[in-house]
Amino acid sequence: MIVKKTNCQEVFDERGIPLELNCKTAESTLAWAGRQNPGNWTEHSRFVALACRNIAAQCEGMDADLAYCFGLLHDIGRYAGVSSERHLIDGYRFCMERGWEKAAQICISHAFMIQDIHTSIGTFDVTEEDFCFMEKFIQSAVYDDYDRLVQLCDALALPTGFCILEKRFVDVTIRYGVHPHTVDRWKKVLEIKAGFEKKINCSIYDLLPGAVENSL
Ligand SMILES: [Fe+2]
Repeated sequence: MIVKKTNCQEVFDERGIPLELNCKTAESTLAWAGRQNPGNWTEHSRFVALACRNIAAQCEGMDADLAYCFGLLHDIGRYAGVSSERHLIDGYRFCMERGWEKAAQICISHAFMIQDIHTSIGTFDVTEEDFCFMEKFIQSAVYDDYDRLVQLCDALALPTGFCILEKRFVDVTIRYGVHPHTVDRWKKVLEIKAGFEKKINCSIYDLLPGAVENSL
């Protein structure tokens, strides 16, 4: 990997993407990705990140800035073009190349609140080898609160702002269709919501300005 330094000593790869993970570099990485494949997904990612930050800030033991970075990067694999589940493995590889291991895990784990690849609602536009890799990865990954937080916040953010989970459930189901595990996935996200509300001792919607208004 070719690495060049600029005057301000930030380190970039050959595509001009920063190698150090922090809020600023995660933001510029998403901006770069949005230029490769423009779409609503970048605004959605920004709201996911803000939701992650707001909720993590109220959770003991969580780093709000780190949660923000993970939210920004969860769909980063979409830089490679319009795809279905391929964006998960593309994002994983993109982050691993930079040594962003936890962000890489979340690029895959955010779509699997149930740790079984067969609960996917997307299409596996990936090679057989990548499918096998993802199948094992999902099964054996150890999820922590950051994985669960991004799974939750992915379902709280439209490209236009925060919304209630049920609004996003319908939005996704209209686009992806009803699948055998759709309801199980909803139940799992609601369970994660309840878990975070227990930690923060209030409704998550209290931390997401405009969520209720945007849902009407
Ligand atoms: Fe997402």
